[in-house]
Parts: sequence; C-alpha cells; structure tokens
Amino acid sequence: MKLKFAAKATDLISEKTDCLVVFTNSNKRLPTVAASVNKATGGAITDLIKGGDLGTELGSHALLHNPQGIAAKRLLVVCADKPKLGDRAFMALAKAATASCLTAGVSSYSLCLEDISVEDRCIQWQTRIFTETLIKATYRFDVYKSKKAPVQPAAKFTYVVADKASVAAVKKGTAIGEAVGYGSSLARDLGNTPPNICNPSYLSKQAKAMARGEQRLSVKVLGEKEMGALGMHSLLSVGRGSVQPSQLIVMDYRGGKKGDAPYAIVGKGITFDSGGISLKPGASMDEMKYDMCGAAAVFGALQSVMALNLPINLVCVVAAAENMPSADASRPGDIVTSMSGKTIEILNTDAEGRLVLCDALTYVQKFKPKTIIDLATLTGAVIGALGNEASGLLSNDDGFAKTLINAGQLSGDRVWQLPLWDDYAKQLKSPFADIANLGGPGAGTITAACFLSEFVKGQTWAHLDIAGTAWLKGAEKGATGTPVGLLTEYLMGL
Ligand code: BES
Ligand code: MN
Ligand code: ZN
Repeated sequence: MKLKFAAKATDLISEKTDCLVVFTNSNKRLPTVAASVNKATGGAITDLIKGGDLGTELGSHALLHNPQGIAAKRLLVVCADKPKLGDRAFMALAKAATASCLTAGVSSYSLCLEDISVEDRCIQWQTRIFTETLIKATYRFDVYKSKKAPVQPAAKFTYVVADKASVAAVKKGTAIGEAVGYGSSLARDLGNTPPNICNPSYLSKQAKAMARGEQRLSVKVLGEKEMGALGMHSLLSVGRGSVQPSQLIVMDYRGGKKGDAPYAIVGKGITFDSGGISLKPGASMDEMKYDMCGAAAVFGALQSVMALNLPINLVCVVAAAENMPSADASRPGDIVTSMSGKTIEILNTDAEGRLVLCDALTYVQKFKPKTIIDLATLTGAVIGALGNEASGLLSNDDGFAKTLINAGQLSGDRVWQLPLWDDYAKQLKSPFADIANLGGPGAGTITAACFLSEFVKGQTWAHLDIAGTAWLKGAEKGATGTPVGLLTEYLMGL
C-alpha cells in the first residue's frame, strides 16, 4: 500500500477527511483536541466513553460514521490510556491505532498526535514513530506467491497541529519515519528473500543497484581473488564449501566534508548457515536464511541515511558468504590466517560469523573510521540471555555503548549491554594457533564478541548481536528490519 503523509496547522472540526482520528485518555478531562471535537459533535466522545463503547485499554477504539457537527465522514476515537505515556506505551498505542486505521480501510485520515503526551518526547518523535509504525504495518512480502494480496488503494495521512510553529517538527518527524520505515522494509525484503535467490552475488547486485545514478555512493565488490590477495583467508574459509563465491561488499557514502573521517557499519552476510561440516540439526534450519540480517540492516540503514541526506561520511561493509558442507569445506581443526596476520584454529565450522567479520573489521580500519559498529546474527546464546526483546550490545567503550543504548531506546530497537571482560577471552586460547574460534559452553555471546574485539584494538567499536531480534517465528514469521532505526538514530545524532 502506498502511503502519503502531509502536515498542516488547522482545527480538526472543519477538516474534510474520510476519517478523523482523535485520542482520549481515561482521565476525567478530555485532552484539548478531543474536547473540542467532543463539543462540536454534541458529546459524541463522552457518549462513547460513558456507554462503555470505547474501552479503557491502551489502543482500544470505537468508530463512528457520519458524526454530526464536524466535516469528517468518520470519527475514530482511540484510547490513549494515561495522561502521560512512556516510550514503549506510545509505540504500542501507535501500533494499535495504525491497525484500527488500516482496518477502516479508507483513503484519507487526519489526526492530531498533540493530544498524546509522552514523557520527555516531543511531537517530532511522536510523528516519526507513528509514521514508521504505519509503514511497518503495511509491509507485505508476497513476491513468491502466485496469488498476491489485493493491492490496497493509496492512503493519505495528514498530521494536524494546533500551532503553525509545530508544522516543521511534524514534517521532520515524517521524513525520519519514512526513511527508517522504508529502510526497514528493504532490510526485511532482503532477509525474507529465499537463500537460493539471496546469495552473496545477489547482495552485490543490490549494492550496485543502490549506487546507480547516485553521486554520493560508490560501491566496490571484492571477489575471492581480490580477498585472497589481501590475505582474508578467514573469511574465505567460510565460503569454501559453497559453489557461491564469497564477496566483500564495500559501499562508501560521502555526505559529509571531503576530509571528514567516516563512520563505519559492518554486517554479517551469511546468506545461508547450514553450520558447514559442524552441521546444524534439521529443525528450523530454514531460518538460517536470516543469517544475513546484519548485512540487511546495513543496506537498510544506508538507504535511510541517503533518504535523509545526512551530512556524514559512512563506510558500509558487508561480509557475504554461504556456509555449506562439501568435500572442500573447512574442517574442525583447520588453521587459517586472517587478514590481520593472526592465525585462527577453526574448532567449529558453525562459528562462522566471527570468521567473516574479523576480516571485514580488519579491512574497514583502513578507512580510519571514527566509530565502528558491527551487526550480526552471531550467537544462539544471545537468545538465551535476552530472548527476542533486545539485541546484545558489547563494546570496548562504555561511553559509546551508552550512546547506542539511548539510540536504541529512542528508536525502539532496544539493546542491552553485556560485559566484555578479559576473563572471558581466556576461553579462546588455542594450543596450536593464535586464537580459537570457539569458547567454552558458557557465555557464548560474550566469547564471540571477545573474538571480534581481538581484531579492533585501539578503535571505538561496538558489536550488536541481533540473533534474537532480526526475525520473528510463528504466525508473524519474517524479518523485522532491526536495527535500522537504531543506526539511523545514532548517525542522525552525530
Ligand atoms: N548464525 C548462527 C547463530 C544463530 C543460531 C542465530 C540460532 C540465530 C539462531 C551462528 O553462526 C552460529 O551457528 N553460532 C553458534 C556458535 C557456536 C558454534 C559457538 C551457536 O550459536 O550455536
Ligand atoms: Mn553458524
Ligand atoms: Zn551463522
């Protein structure tokens, strides 16, 4: 569904629209706009409340046709529960309200978010989250279905504010919401695309397509030969068992000043993770097509940054490979030399993410980035620690970690920090090589990050383990697009 957004300062009484959306709360007094609509309609809203039609739960709603005294054809009243909401409550409310709007299925909506007050957040933030939520709610992935869902007519959402001075903030919020929303859609599309289609070369094509006709972006793809010449034998070891050649995709966005050091984001792009010779069990193995969701987030964030034309330089690196068993695949016990010169004993071929990332991290440091963030569906252990509610965050700089935690809170892509103490790194000692790719049975997310940290000495670096957040199982199965919002928020705040 195509969505259009607009912003204007007007009163809602005379607003001509298919559906006017008004928020109330369970307080005795109605908020400003709701009160004026209530008055104009001769008490339609208070009647809904008194009659018990509205409900008192956050997001519960009632729809009136042909309301009297206002120009709108319908009036959708949504309960905003408390006078002041927290971030999560507002996000839940936005989800419920957008769902009610979309079931109304009309082509124009007008709404005023100013009646909802969120602790420490402004109208720009509210508009951004609402816009993003709408885009996420209308996302469909039916490219591979013979029967597609019927194409819904375009819908226009007009954000109405009381004061002209707020129009600019609402427009800015809409722009950010659209950038993040469609950036997430791109990440979701890439994640959901089946692994027989979405292989490393497919990701390279995606990168090249993004750079077409685009002055600010240059793309370079290193094939196996080029990577070999650079000594990236750790990354190359992962793709050995696959007929699909591994690729290192480098996307260089120049939105800042010429000499400005860039920021860097690096994504794990394992387009299918069978485990290799350390083969995974069969149950849910199809979900290992999502093992490139770190890469997908890099693409999504880059699209979002370009849409917002952020005045920064940003180097994006995707380490793309397919992890398959074959007669020529890596074996447990193999020792490879990484681009850094460090030798690695591969004790488990299923711990392949760190093997591709270490070389990508070494590579990206030649750009002398200000900060480096890598994103990876790296460990099943992070699901044990944090479930599906937060991504794991590990960093060698606590100040940087705090900045990212805050960006996560603002965007809804929540992250939770785990310690990166030296004590854990001991588990990676190898009797034969400089480091092993496998730790002990405990703290798998931390030992994986300790492994990566060995390759980023002296850099401001953070690692996000998105294995528990990048896709959903069950009825809502599919990629989530996380953490495009967090990355955009961080890069916007610089
Ligand atoms: N891609 C997986 C991590 C993963 C597992 C993500 C399950 C989501 C769900 C990664 O490559 C992997 O296999 N990790 C191993 C590491 C182990 C061998 C040290 C794991 O988590 O089991
Ligand atoms: Mn694996
Ligand atoms: Zn993996």
